[in-house]
Amino acid sequence: MVRLAPSLLSADFARLADEIADVERAGADLLHLDVMDGHFVPNLTFGPPVIAALARVATVPLDAHLMVTDPHPLIPELAAAGVRRTAVHVETCAHLHRTLAMIRSADMEVGVAVNPATSLIQLDEVLAELDFVLVMSVNPGFGGQSFIPASVDKVRRLREMAGDQNLDISVDGGVDRETAGPLVAAGATTLIAGSAVFGKDDRALALDELRASAHQGIA
Ligand code: DX5
Ligand code: ZN
Repeated sequence: MVRLAPSLLSADFARLADEIADVERAGADLLHLDVMDGHFVPNLTFGPPVIAALARVATVPLDAHLMVTDPHPLIPELAAAGVRRTAVHVETCAHLHRTLAMIRSADMEVGVAVNPATSLIQLDEVLAELDFVLVMSVNPGFGGQSFIPASVDKVRRLREMAGDQNLDISVDGGVDRETAGPLVAAGATTLIAGSAVFGKDDRALALDELRASAHQGIA
Protein backbone atom coordinates (compact mmCIF):
# COMPACT_ATOMS: atom_id res chain seq x y z
CA MET A 1 0.00 0.00 0.00
CA VAL A 2 1.28 3.44 -0.91
CA ARG A 3 0.40 6.49 1.16
CA LEU A 4 0.04 9.99 -0.23
CA ALA A 5 1.22 12.92 1.88
CA PRO A 6 0.47 16.39 0.52
CA SER A 7 3.13 18.91 1.58
CA LEU A 8 1.58 22.05 3.06
CA LEU A 9 4.54 24.11 1.81
CA SER A 10 2.66 24.65 -1.45
CA ALA A 11 -0.71 25.37 0.22
CA ASP A 12 -2.22 28.83 0.61
CA PHE A 13 -0.77 29.88 3.99
CA ALA A 14 -3.62 32.34 4.50
CA ARG A 15 -6.17 29.49 4.41
CA LEU A 16 -4.40 26.52 5.99
CA ALA A 17 -7.43 24.97 7.71
CA ASP A 18 -9.41 25.01 4.43
CA GLU A 19 -6.47 23.62 2.52
CA ILE A 20 -6.10 20.75 5.00
CA ALA A 21 -9.83 19.95 4.84
CA ASP A 22 -9.66 19.99 1.05
CA VAL A 23 -6.82 17.44 0.77
CA GLU A 24 -8.32 15.27 3.51
CA ARG A 25 -11.57 15.10 1.54
CA ALA A 26 -9.49 14.30 -1.53
CA GLY A 27 -7.97 11.26 0.21
CA ALA A 28 -4.67 12.39 1.76
CA ASP A 29 -3.21 9.75 4.09
CA LEU A 30 -0.80 12.05 5.96
CA LEU A 31 0.00 15.77 6.05
CA HIS A 32 3.64 16.66 5.45
CA LEU A 33 4.93 19.67 7.38
CA ASP A 34 8.18 21.29 6.29
CA VAL A 35 9.86 22.99 9.23
CA MET A 36 12.66 25.27 7.97
CA ASP A 37 14.94 27.57 9.95
CA GLY A 38 16.46 29.82 7.29
CA HIS A 39 19.86 28.37 8.23
CA PHE A 40 20.08 24.70 7.27
CA VAL A 41 17.97 25.65 4.25
CA PRO A 42 17.52 29.10 2.72
CA ASN A 43 13.84 29.39 3.60
CA LEU A 44 11.76 29.88 6.73
CA THR A 45 8.34 28.34 7.36
CA PHE A 46 6.54 27.50 10.60
CA GLY A 47 7.19 25.79 13.92
CA PRO A 48 5.43 24.21 16.90
CA PRO A 49 2.81 26.93 17.64
CA VAL A 50 1.46 26.86 14.07
CA ILE A 51 1.69 23.06 13.95
CA ALA A 52 -0.25 22.76 17.23
CA ALA A 53 -3.00 24.89 15.68
CA LEU A 54 -3.03 22.74 12.53
CA ALA A 55 -3.21 19.59 14.67
CA ARG A 56 -6.49 20.84 16.09
CA VAL A 57 -8.12 20.86 12.65
CA ALA A 58 -6.33 17.94 10.95
CA THR A 59 -7.79 14.43 11.08
CA VAL A 60 -4.94 12.57 9.33
CA PRO A 61 -1.53 12.00 11.00
CA LEU A 62 1.01 14.82 10.87
CA ASP A 63 4.44 14.13 9.39
CA ALA A 64 7.18 16.62 10.35
CA HIS A 65 10.28 17.13 8.21
CA LEU A 66 12.87 19.11 10.17
CA MET A 67 15.13 21.15 7.90
CA VAL A 68 16.82 22.92 10.79
CA THR A 69 20.40 23.11 12.03
CA ASP A 70 19.43 22.07 15.55
CA PRO A 71 16.36 19.81 15.64
CA HIS A 72 16.69 18.85 19.32
CA PRO A 73 14.60 21.55 21.02
CA LEU A 74 11.80 20.96 18.52
CA ILE A 75 11.38 17.24 19.20
CA PRO A 76 9.42 17.40 22.49
CA GLU A 77 7.49 20.45 21.27
CA LEU A 78 6.35 18.72 18.11
CA ALA A 79 5.32 15.63 20.05
CA ALA A 80 3.28 17.83 22.40
CA ALA A 81 1.75 19.56 19.38
CA GLY A 82 0.40 16.21 18.16
CA VAL A 83 2.87 15.23 15.43
CA ARG A 84 2.80 11.48 14.64
CA ARG A 85 6.18 11.11 12.96
CA THR A 86 9.34 13.16 12.63
CA ALA A 87 12.35 13.03 10.34
CA VAL A 88 15.63 14.77 11.10
CA HIS A 89 18.31 15.33 8.49
CA VAL A 90 21.34 13.08 8.87
CA GLU A 91 23.46 16.06 7.76
CA THR A 92 22.47 18.00 10.91
CA CYS A 93 22.99 15.36 13.61
CA ALA A 94 26.48 14.67 14.96
CA HIS A 95 24.97 12.24 17.48
CA LEU A 96 22.28 10.78 15.30
CA HIS A 97 21.66 7.70 17.43
CA ARG A 98 20.87 9.89 20.44
CA THR A 99 18.61 12.17 18.40
CA LEU A 100 16.65 9.17 17.12
CA ALA A 101 16.24 7.89 20.68
CA MET A 102 14.82 11.31 21.61
CA ILE A 103 12.19 11.03 18.87
CA ARG A 104 11.34 7.48 19.97
CA SER A 105 11.01 8.44 23.63
CA ALA A 106 8.71 11.30 22.59
CA ASP A 107 6.42 8.55 21.19
CA MET A 108 6.75 9.57 17.57
CA GLU A 109 7.67 7.41 14.61
CA VAL A 110 11.35 7.83 13.85
CA GLY A 111 12.73 8.98 10.51
CA VAL A 112 15.91 10.23 8.91
CA ALA A 113 16.01 12.46 5.85
CA VAL A 114 18.90 12.27 3.37
CA ASN A 115 19.85 14.99 0.93
CA PRO A 116 20.49 14.11 -2.71
CA ALA A 117 24.28 14.32 -2.20
CA THR A 118 24.26 12.20 0.95
CA SER A 119 25.20 8.53 0.66
CA LEU A 120 22.94 5.80 2.03
CA ILE A 121 26.04 4.50 3.81
CA GLN A 122 25.32 7.21 6.40
CA LEU A 123 22.23 5.20 7.41
CA ASP A 124 23.90 1.84 7.76
CA GLU A 125 24.44 1.89 11.53
CA VAL A 126 20.99 3.29 12.43
CA LEU A 127 18.71 1.64 9.88
CA ALA A 128 17.33 -0.86 12.41
CA GLU A 129 16.22 2.06 14.64
CA LEU A 130 14.13 3.65 11.90
CA ASP A 131 10.47 3.52 11.00
CA PHE A 132 11.10 5.51 7.83
CA VAL A 133 13.68 7.14 5.64
CA LEU A 134 12.86 10.36 3.82
CA VAL A 135 14.73 10.29 0.53
CA MET A 136 15.08 13.83 -0.76
CA SER A 137 14.66 13.89 -4.52
CA VAL A 138 15.39 17.65 -4.68
CA ASN A 139 17.72 19.80 -2.60
CA PRO A 140 15.54 20.84 0.34
CA GLY A 141 14.24 24.36 0.84
CA PHE A 142 11.60 25.02 -1.78
CA GLY A 143 8.60 23.45 -3.45
CA GLY A 144 8.23 23.12 -7.19
CA GLN A 145 11.79 22.06 -8.04
CA SER A 146 12.69 19.47 -10.67
CA PHE A 147 12.93 15.84 -9.63
CA ILE A 148 16.50 14.45 -9.55
CA PRO A 149 16.25 11.23 -11.63
CA ALA A 150 19.03 9.39 -9.73
CA SER A 151 16.65 9.31 -6.74
CA VAL A 152 14.82 6.31 -8.22
CA ASP A 153 17.95 4.17 -8.07
CA LYS A 154 18.67 5.47 -4.57
CA VAL A 155 15.23 4.25 -3.45
CA ARG A 156 15.92 0.87 -5.04
CA ARG A 157 19.26 0.53 -3.23
CA LEU A 158 17.69 1.57 0.07
CA ARG A 159 14.94 -1.04 -0.32
CA GLU A 160 17.65 -3.64 -0.88
CA MET A 161 19.55 -2.44 2.19
CA ALA A 162 16.39 -2.70 4.29
CA GLY A 163 15.90 -6.38 3.42
CA ASP A 164 13.15 -7.86 5.62
CA GLN A 165 12.78 -4.72 7.75
CA ASN A 166 9.36 -3.11 7.59
CA LEU A 167 10.83 0.26 6.58
CA ASP A 168 8.69 2.99 5.08
CA ILE A 169 10.55 4.74 2.28
CA SER A 170 9.14 8.22 1.79
CA VAL A 171 10.19 10.34 -1.17
CA ASP A 172 10.04 14.12 -1.13
CA GLY A 173 10.58 16.58 -3.96
CA GLY A 174 9.29 16.72 -7.52
CA VAL A 175 6.90 13.84 -6.97
CA ASP A 176 4.16 13.98 -9.61
CA ARG A 177 2.23 11.61 -11.85
CA GLU A 178 5.34 11.00 -14.00
CA THR A 179 7.73 10.18 -11.15
CA ALA A 180 5.33 8.42 -8.75
CA GLY A 181 5.15 5.13 -10.70
CA PRO A 182 8.92 4.58 -11.05
CA LEU A 183 9.43 5.51 -7.38
CA VAL A 184 6.87 2.99 -6.18
CA ALA A 185 8.29 0.33 -8.51
CA ALA A 186 11.69 0.97 -6.88
CA GLY A 187 10.28 0.48 -3.37
CA ALA A 188 8.84 3.81 -2.19
CA THR A 189 5.83 3.44 0.13
CA THR A 190 4.99 7.08 0.92
CA LEU A 191 4.86 9.82 -1.70
CA ILE A 192 5.12 13.43 -0.56
CA ALA A 193 3.87 15.98 -3.04
CA GLY A 194 3.51 19.73 -2.72
CA SER A 195 3.02 21.49 -6.04
CA ALA A 196 1.55 18.37 -7.71
CA VAL A 197 -1.35 18.59 -5.20
CA PHE A 198 -1.73 22.18 -4.00
CA GLY A 199 -0.73 23.57 -7.38
CA LYS A 200 -3.87 22.03 -8.88
CA ASP A 201 -7.38 23.43 -8.41
CA ASP A 202 -8.93 19.96 -8.16
CA ARG A 203 -7.07 18.22 -5.34
CA ALA A 204 -9.14 15.04 -5.61
CA LEU A 205 -8.11 14.71 -9.26
CA ALA A 206 -4.49 15.45 -8.35
CA LEU A 207 -4.45 12.72 -5.68
CA ASP A 208 -6.28 10.28 -7.97
CA GLU A 209 -3.65 10.82 -10.65
CA LEU A 210 -0.84 10.23 -8.18
CA ARG A 211 -2.54 7.09 -6.89
CA ALA A 212 -3.09 5.78 -10.41
CA SER A 213 0.58 6.34 -11.22
CA ALA A 214 1.60 4.66 -7.94
CA HIS A 215 -0.56 1.63 -8.76
CA GLN A 216 1.10 1.34 -12.17
CA GLY A 217 4.37 1.20 -10.26
CA ILE A 218 3.08 -1.69 -8.13
CA ALA A 219 1.77 -3.59 -11.17
C1 DX5 B 1 11.29 20.69 -0.03
C2 DX5 B 1 10.26 20.10 0.88
C3 DX5 B 1 9.17 19.40 0.20
C4 DX5 B 1 8.38 20.26 -0.75
C5 DX5 B 1 8.08 19.42 -1.95
O1 DX5 B 1 12.34 21.16 0.73
O2 DX5 B 1 10.86 19.18 1.77
O3 DX5 B 1 8.31 18.73 1.12
O4 DX5 B 1 7.19 20.76 -0.24
O5 DX5 B 1 7.47 20.20 -2.92
P1 DX5 B 1 7.24 19.66 -4.40
O6 DX5 B 1 6.40 18.44 -4.29
O7 DX5 B 1 6.59 20.80 -5.09
O8 DX5 B 1 8.62 19.35 -4.96
ZN1 ZN C 1 9.53 17.94 3.02
